[in-house]
Parts: sequence; C-alpha cells; structure tokens
Amino acid sequence: DDAYLITHALATDTLSRLRDVETEQVAFRKGLVKLGRICGYEIIDGAMETEYVPVETPLAETTGERVKGLDDVVIINVLRAATPFVEGLLKAFPRAKQGVISAGRDEEAGMTADGEFPITIDYVKLPEIRPGDTVIVADPMLATGSTMVAVLDHVLEEADDFEDLFVLSAVSAPAGLVRVSEAVPEADLLTVAIDDRLDDDGFIVPGLGDAGDRAFR
Ligand code: PRP
Repeated sequence: DDAYLITHALATDTLSRLRDVETEQVAFRKGLVKLGRICGYEIIDGAMETEYVPVETPLAETTGERVKGLDDVVIINVLRAATPFVEGLLKAFPRAKQGVISAGRDEEAGMTADGEFPITIDYVKLPEIRPGDTVIVADPMLATGSTMVAVLDHVLEEADDFEDLFVLSAVSAPAGLVRVSEAVPEADLLTVAIDDRLDDDGFIVPGLGDAGDRAFR
C-alpha cells in the first residue's frame, strides 16, 4: 500500500495544461492520452524489472536488456474519463489485455458525512488475470476514492494472484488516497499530483474540473 508520485517533468507539464480552464475539449482529450503514455513509461521505468538477453544484430552477437513482463499487463479502464488516459497507456503497453468497468458516483445522493459517495456499477468486463500479471487500474481522478474502492472490489473478485496492482490517477485528493490504501492495502497508488482538498461537492481543489465532461463534451 505504497503511494508514489510520478514526477517526470513532461507529466507535470501535461497535467498543468489539463488543469488550465482555457484548455478546450480536443486539447484536453489529447493531453489525457499524452499523460497516459508518460505514466506508462514511468511505470515501466520505476516498477518493472529488466533482464539481459542475447541479441543478434545484423553484424554481431551482443547482449540486450529487455523489460520483464511487458506482455503480461492488464489495464482496467474506469469509464468514462479513463478512456483517453488508457489510450495513452496502451502506447506504453501495446499488448496489454484490457478490462472495462463503468462506475459512477451518485451525485444526487451527495457526499456522506464521512466523505463517501454511493457508487453505481453498470458494466464489468474483465479479462483473465493471472499470477505474474501487472494490473493497472486507471482513472484520471481519485477524489473521495469511493469509485476506486468499488472498482477494486470487482477486480479482486476476479484476481487473487498477480504480480503488482497499481491504481493510477492523474490528480488525487489526500482523502481518496487514504481511503483506497486502507480499503485495498495490496494496491500501490501512483499519481501525478496530490491536491489540497475536496470541496463540499466532492470535487478535487484545485484539480482540473470534471475530466469526463472536459474530454467528452
Ligand atoms: C469521476 C472520476 C472518477 C470519480 C472519482 O467520474 O473520473 O471515476 O469521479 O471520484 P471519487 O474518487 O469521489 O469516487 P464520474 O463519476 O464523474 O464519471 P465520468 O467519468 O463518467 O464523468
């Protein structure tokens, strides 16, 4: 249940453009794709092992270094805001298997006194998760953490054995990180930014607004 910041300068640069209220829909969506790609590269660089392998070039035999387990990756797309984010991740993990979970906060019900939202899950389709797999659950926003806890419940139902379980978000609120790490200690949390707080409606402040709305309409 560790939490790591993704500090690559291109990640913080891209996130800063996403935060900007002037960034319109197309640039916002493309920014999420770019951020997903950078985060994917950072996961590979920071969390995956490499191994030395013999390589034959056209001229000679040499030793190459390959990333282990690059093909054994499962990416879970938490609809809807994660879709462009996952598109970027797939550039780093082109052979990943994909799962899709549609999960949304019941905004009408509102945030409870202890800072949670009721979550509606409409659709769950997950690939087989095998021992040795690296599982990445992607959602650009981790606010109260209610959505992620509900999503991880479904993922853990499917998978009891895996190499690593990463929760990847662009922007997180402290309360959400705490909720997820307490509820699912086997997950490692990765985020590009930890923001100040949640407002009364459960929005991350300063955050970047509603990522789903900004990318899709
Ligand atoms: C947003 C976001 C997360 C969730 C985070 O989705 O993409 O899924 O809220 O909030 P939480 O941590 O408090 O649960 P939303 O419910 O707005 O759905 P959308 O992606 O379809 O816009």
